[in-house]
Parts: sequence; structure tokens; C-alpha cells
Amino acid sequence: MAGIYIHIPFCKVKCNYCDFHFSTNQTLTQKMIESICEELIQKKEYLNKEPIKTIYFGGGTPSLISTELLRRIIDTIYLYFEIVIDVEFTFECNPDDLTNEKLKELRTLGVNRLSIGIQSFEDEQLEFMNRAHNSNEALNCVKLAQNNGFTNITIDLIYGLPNTSEKYWEKQIEKAIDLNVNHISAYCLTIEERTVFGNWYKSGKLKLVEDEYSLNQFKRLQSELHKNGFEHYEISNFSKNGFISKHNSAYWLGEKYIGIGPSAHSFNGSSRQWNVANNSKYINGLRKKETYFEVEQLSSTDKFNEYILTRLRTKWGVNLDDLFLINDKQKVQTLKMADKFIKNNDLQIIDNTLFITQQGKFIVDHISSELFI
Ligand SMILES: C[S@@+](CC[C@H](N)C(=O)[O-])C[C@H]1O[C@@H](n2cnc3c(N)ncnc32)[C@H](O)[C@@H]1O
Ligand code: SF4
Repeated sequence: MAGIYIHIPFCKVKCNYCDFHFSTNQTLTQKMIESICEELIQKKEYLNKEPIKTIYFGGGTPSLISTELLRRIIDTIYLYFEIVIDVEFTFECNPDDLTNEKLKELRTLGVNRLSIGIQSFEDEQLEFMNRAHNSNEALNCVKLAQNNGFTNITIDLIYGLPNTSEKYWEKQIEKAIDLNVNHISAYCLTIEERTVFGNWYKSGKLKLVEDEYSLNQFKRLQSELHKNGFEHYEISNFSKNGFISKHNSAYWLGEKYIGIGPSAHSFNGSSRQWNVANNSKYINGLRKKETYFEVEQLSSTDKFNEYILTRLRTKWGVNLDDLFLINDKQKVQTLKMADKFIKNNDLQIIDNTLFITQQGKFIVDHISSELFI
């Protein structure tokens, strides 16, 4: 089983924190969709005809694209790949795009999971981040989606924002829970160099928050969501009633996927490839049959480190038999390091599998890097 990711590289505005690949100039939209369809055809053998169990439209902002153009991509997917009947079909949307009409169209396209970028329910913070939507739209779009029959909805929130109080974050969590969605992704704000926040940070206009401050918000999130029946199944992801993201879980479990569109990545079990993060270069590359992607064969060291990096963040943990089957060069050293974290109660070992503890979750990236070859 495998997954298909489609990257839609356009946005209405540039959010102050975001360095994903997108352009606010939408003049190339039509050509981009044609190129995406062309790439799907060119790479139809990439997954060795494995059945597709998840489709994910991400971005950028997929909800900006007209139904007619989206249908072209979806028709191409169905024509060239074998899609399982109960496919998880996720579509990223921004609140300001979600009208009754749009939601109905998304349903007719076969979308059965919505990922809505709320980020915050307060106007002051939404403006600070330069989001295109306001607090009313943040609340109403989820209800509108539910009224249109969407039962599998996830929302994105950002914590660790400067100048927000404890009370602010409690309110965000409360509002998220009240919406009765079955999945929440919450990301700690990172200041990326090539963004407005990055520039503000460099010029001293924006101060970084203390680690302790973000950590407290993370702890509060964990305990409130736990009390309300959410499972913390990956560092940034919480699900209710088993509604995990099948698509993202497949990434973390090392399954194969193909990423289509500029900047998208693909993985076929032995190599990774990634497309150029530039709209014109991507379109021209496909049109002129020139290279528009790079390929990297993964060494056993790469696979070993990736296994730790992706698995330790999840509820599935790092199985040591599987890990040392990939590479056992540094077995003694890895076990010694793991033991240090087990003694410190950051890791625990059950059935020869390493799991991150509640305490360890706060330093999971550090622990992973210490376990790497
Ligand atoms: C690539 S965005 C696409 C989603 C959609 N376009 C939107 O804006 O809602 C995916 C998510 O990553 C998160 N994100 C992006 N940049 C971030 C940053 N610098 N710090 C924290 N979270 C970030 C946001 O929560 C965002 O919803
Ligand atoms: S957060 Fe979403 S809408 Fe904002 S710039 Fe990034 S991809 Fe575009």
C-alpha cells in the first residue's frame, strides 16, 4: 500500500511564519495543474503499481483551486493508479475559502478528510501572523464543514506565539475541543530565516520566547486533550476515536509515497527524490523533459537514522530488532546511549521497543540525534 501527495504551490497571502514552498502570484495556476497531471503520468510506475490507500492535497493552499482544475488532477490519479475503495482523501483548506458551495464540491470530488489551518481563534494573533481569515471564519468554517457532512476533520493550531498569555492558550484549546473535531495538529512556532518573522527577529523587532514558555503550553495542550479523549500519537498530533492521519502515519512508518508538484518529496523504499521548489522551473522542466528533481539513494546509515527520527516521535516506537536489521554497526554504542535515557526516564523499553516517555517528549529531537550513527 502506498500514498500520493499533491503539492499546490499557491497562496492568497504570505503568512509571516511560513517557509513552505508557495507563490502568491497565481497566473501560472492553469499551467501548474497541467504539469502536475503530466508528472503523475510520467511517474505512474514509481510505486510499482502498489494500491493507493491515501491521497493528500497539501500546500500552499489547495482550497484556492477551482473544482474544474482539481477534477483534472483527481481524474488523472484515478486513471493511472489503483486506488483502494476506502481511500483516505485529505484536503488542506484555509478557513476563508470554505463556503457551502466549496464544501459541497469537495465532497463530490471524493474528499473525505479536511485539514483546516485555523492557527488561532483570536483576531489579534491572526493579524500578527498575517492570516487571510478572521476569528469568526475560524469558528464557523468547521461548523459549516460538519453541516456539509464532513465527519473526519483535523485542525492546525500554532502555540509558542510571543505575547500570548497562559489564558490565551487555554482558550484556544477549549475552543478547539468545543468544535468536536476528531484530530488536532498543534505546532510550536519556529522562526524560519526566509520569512517576515525571520526578518523581524534579525532586526530585533521580534523576540524569541523562552523554551519554558512553549513547553508549558505544550504540557497544557497534552493534559487538556488527554482529559478530553484524545490520543497523543505523534509529537504534534492528537486523535480521537482512532482517527489518526493514515497518510502522515505512513510517512512515519516508512511506507512508500509519491509526491507530485514543486518541492514535493517521494520515497520508494530505497531512494528519496525531491522536486525543484520553483514554479517556473518545475513547469519548464516537465514541458521540456528536463530534470526537475534530484534523487538520493539511501545508505544503511541514512535508513537507520531516519527510522529513529520518524519512529521515536510516534506511539509505535523504535523496534530494536528492526533497527539493527537495517544496520548493526553501532549496536553497542546505540544501546549504551538508549540506556542513559532509560535511566533518566526519558525513554522506556517494552518488548524490545524504545518508547518516548511523557518527560522525553519535550526533548525528543535531542534524544533522536544522540541515538544516530
Ligand atoms: C504548510 S501549512 C499548509 C496549510 C494551509 N495552507 C494553511 O495555511 O492552513 C501546514 C501547517 O504548518 C504549520 N506551520 C507552518 N509554518 C510553521 C512555523 N514556522 N511554525 C509553526 N507551525 C508552522 C501551520 O500550522 C500550518 O497550518
Ligand atoms: S501557512 Fe498556509 S496559507 Fe500561509 S503561507 Fe503557508 S501555506 Fe500559505
